[in-house]
Parts: sequence; C-alpha cells; structure tokens
Amino acid sequence: MGIVENNIQFTVVEDGSEQIIETYIGEYRSLMALLKDELYLDSFGECGGVGRCATCIVKTSGISGNSSIKDRNEPVTLSKMGYEEENVRLSCQLMITKDLEGSCIEIIG
Ligand code: FES
Repeated sequence: MGIVENNIQFTVVEDGSEQIIETYIGEYRSLMALLKDELYLDSFGECGGVGRCATCIVKTSGISGNSSIKDRNEPVTLSKMGYEEENVRLSCQLMITKDLEGSCIEIIG
C-alpha cells in the first residue's frame, strides 16, 4: 500500500470547535492514543486503553465497517456509564483504520 492509500482524515470536535485530523494507518494504536496526543487532553484514556475506565468517550458519526460494532469490554463499560446509544463509543476500542475516513468524532468525556 502506498502512502496515499494509508492516509485517513476525519473531523474532531472538542468544546464546540472543530478541527480536521490527518493520520495514517499505524501512526497510533487507537483513536484514544491519537486524541490524547494531538489534542493534549488531560485525564483522557486513564486505563491506557483496556476499555474499563470510560475516560475516553466520544460521540461518533460516519464510522463504517467493523469499527461501527462495539466489542469486548466496550458495551458493558458504556452501559455502566449510562450510554446505550450505538454511536457513543470508547475511543480506545477504535483502531485507526479506513473505517474512520470522513467521520466526525466529538469528545464527550
Ligand atoms: S482508555 Fe480506558 S476505557 Fe478507553
């Protein structure tokens, strides 16, 4: 795969302000790691990505493919926090793949 096919672009909304994030497959191990690093978020992703702390919650739109399905600890952790909506997700359980291309990710916790 060439560099262009590996590129991924999506929108991130934080406190009402939008920005376009550009990344590529393999740059970060999860969306949580990307958001923490690129947006300098404090107390985000505290469990390091095992899907238990629920400090990495995002509201998503436009995610496609397998990434749109909640897996492993994710549904249980989110329901404990009162989030049953399909588009509310733990960003540590979202990998940086083409499934994120063109999506919108809003940080909510
Ligand atoms: S980093 Fe802890 S649940 Fe995502």
